[in-house]
Amino acid sequence: MSNILAVHASPRGDRSHSRRLAEVFLSAWKARNPQSTLTRREVGRALIPPVNEAFVAAAFYPEPDARPLSMRADLAFSDQLVSELLGHDLLVISTPMHNFSIPSGLKAWIDQIVRLGLTFNHTLDNGVAQYEPLVKGKKALIVTSRGGFGFGPGGELEAMNHADPLLRTALGFIGITDITVVAAEGEESEARTFQISAAEAEQRLLALAREF
Ligand SMILES: Cc1cc2nc3c(=O)[nH]c(=O)nc-3n(C[C@H](O)[C@H](O)[C@H](O)COP(=O)(O)O)c2cc1C
Repeated sequence: MSNILAVHASPRGDRSHSRRLAEVFLSAWKARNPQSTLTRREVGRALIPPVNEAFVAAAFYPEPDARPLSMRADLAFSDQLVSELLGHDLLVISTPMHNFSIPSGLKAWIDQIVRLGLTFNHTLDNGVAQYEPLVKGKKALIVTSRGGFGFGPGGELEAMNHADPLLRTALGFIGITDITVVAAEGEESEARTFQISAAEAEQRLLALAREF
């Protein structure tokens, strides 16, 4: 791996567990890969514009090469986010679980980078929509923190987890299917519960920094 795009989604800064855990991976990885680049994209404490009517009209304009200038302007920030994503090998997303899903800033980022003609294609096969992912050769690491416990695979609350499964689906749709999720759970339980879970997550992240 030669470079990382780190997307940070918590509205919290220094108090954020998902940010702190992501740093465990990022600093270990950076120490092992000093020549590599690390780019950060803030989506939790900076406004990522939500999709609006102008964006939809421009993004799905039938002749992309003939888009009027005003439409190009409507897509300029999205174009920038897409080329930022395409310019990196490993995507690291740090995010809390918010109301069983992801924070709205991260959803807005997803909506900006899932782009017809750039990250996926759409065709009709006998009138039936077919989708083709356009992003190749990338991996993703999702580092997440949750207040509750048991949202992981096989856990009691797995069916209520619409956070990392949403990211897996959306990233998979554009072609990023090699995805690893590392979660710390139980921040809202007694301190010891979260300490154990976070320590396990840290060990896993340190191992991944050696593998990636
Ligand atoms: C608005 C909001 C919604 C939350 N929703 C959930 C939830 O649905 N499930 C859960 O387990 N924890 C939930 N939590 C708790 C956070 O996931 C938990 O505090 C997490 O550690 C925060 O990560 P951060 O420190 O990186 O911000 C929520 C917290 C906030 C502020």
